[in-house]
Amino acid sequence: MNIVHIAAEVYPFSKVGGLGDVLGALPRAQWKAGDRVCVITPLYKEVIDKKYELKRISLEFDVWIGGKKRKCRVFEYSYDSTYKVYFLFNRSLFAKGGVYTESDGSPLANSTERFVFFQKAALRVVSCLAKDADIIHCHDNHVAVLPLYKKLRYKNLRARTFFTIHNVGYQGVADMREKGLFGLPGSYFRKGGDLFWQGSINPMKAGIIHADAVGTVSPTHAREILESGELSAGMREIFVRTGRKLYGVLNGVDYDEWSPEKDRFIWKNYSMSSLDSKQENKKRLIAELGVDVSLEERPLIGMVSRLVEQKGVDILLEAIPSIVSLGCGLVVLGKGNRKYEEKLKNYQERYKGAVCVRIGYDYLLSHRIIAGTDFFVVPSRYEPCGVTQMYSMRYGTIPIVRKTGGLADTVKDWDGKEGTGIVFEEYCAEELFKAIRKAVNIYRNRDLHREISCNGMRMRFSWDKSAGEYRKLYAKLIES
Ligand code: ADP
Ligand code: GLC
Repeated sequence: MNIVHIAAEVYPFSKVGGLGDVLGALPRAQWKAGDRVCVITPLYKEVIDKKYELKRISLEFDVWIGGKKRKCRVFEYSYDSTYKVYFLFNRSLFAKGGVYTESDGSPLANSTERFVFFQKAALRVVSCLAKDADIIHCHDNHVAVLPLYKKLRYKNLRARTFFTIHNVGYQGVADMREKGLFGLPGSYFRKGGDLFWQGSINPMKAGIIHADAVGTVSPTHAREILESGELSAGMREIFVRTGRKLYGVLNGVDYDEWSPEKDRFIWKNYSMSSLDSKQENKKRLIAELGVDVSLEERPLIGMVSRLVEQKGVDILLEAIPSIVSLGCGLVVLGKGNRKYEEKLKNYQERYKGAVCVRIGYDYLLSHRIIAGTDFFVVPSRYEPCGVTQMYSMRYGTIPIVRKTGGLADTVKDWDGKEGTGIVFEEYCAEELFKAIRKAVNIYRNRDLHREISCNGMRMRFSWDKSAGEYRKLYAKLIES
């Protein structure tokens, strides 16, 4: 099969959250399974600054957007003759700012224009460099209108389109005044139109309607979207009205990047048979972060996350005083909502030595926290898949998660006989606190702690399996 992935994030070039992890691993798994693969993504300033060896290729063209001509330049990166990543660049749209925000974290001024440009340009690249593609796999709202553009403007391309919703809470909603940027007939933006949503423009809605197939990143979340208006952020209505199917394919883990035996970022490598060395990582983490040394012998809980409403930061904040009163330490690495950042920093001040907060994006520290803590908390309000709970299991760091979406599909609550973590159901600080109390009891029983850690370490969420599931879905599309 010949597969083209199109996405706004691709690890290691650009990563804000799990979307980057997926695009860093799924294409490789597909290539290993014998498929031809390429990835198309924007060339952001941060990618230019990292100085990868990108090769400028001769393809160059203009994209019309909002009555203006914008030049698209194309660069390529080859993974030692396995597969290629194509980077698309326009100076006025991508030479400054981050992936989804300006460099100072404020909202991107040209977000709609950026991603409309990217979608139009990506299709042009497919038609020039991958015209025999079987599947164009579009990821998230930034490329959700691409299936519609393909239908309208690239009738010669035989590829079928697959649209994966990684996060239904981010739909790319734009002000109706921006409709001119899309270059589509006015009917799409009028009441009842495929991009019309409560008076605004909604790209995700168009993706659900026009892609040949639609998926999300865990079976439970697929059910949640189809069953709940709230959890689907309103998109359930579109599925019901159009009778569209929604497939749930669980993400995997890139174990070359996330394994304690060979992790190049942690202080001491370890495995199930040398689990004592995990303690060395805990000691070094405690020293590096300057938290209370006595935490070496008390439970240390980690969190690495975007600090946004989805991630359950509000219930964590509410539970912090009780968590500290249990004698636990808490280490949080994240960035996002200013209000959450401030409140977390206030707790760091109030509970010096017990609560440590690092605001920012830090790949190295993310590995060290996942390896060096005893428990890892993911109290999400909703979670399409979530990858950090799977990483933490691999490191013997017991996950404490809320029972939602992919968290429910990957972590089994310790029931006294078996289990890989601690799972709580109701979204509230009290239930989170009870889960942490359970963690503390587990911590006190060294043998039990080790047993649950090892249960998690044995789990494998292989990308080969997920790639196999995608392959079956692609094959169905190609045949239809
Ligand atoms: P989401 O995509 O919703 O953010 P996931 O759990 O799927 O959630 O993926 C989050 C990814 O981003 C993980 O790889 C996690 O380690 C990483 N991450 C999140 N915040 C940070 C941060 N501040 N520093 C480093 N890595 C982070
Ligand atoms: C999203 C989701 C997360 C998922 C990731 C990768 O951002 O919030 O749950 O793991 O995409 O699919």
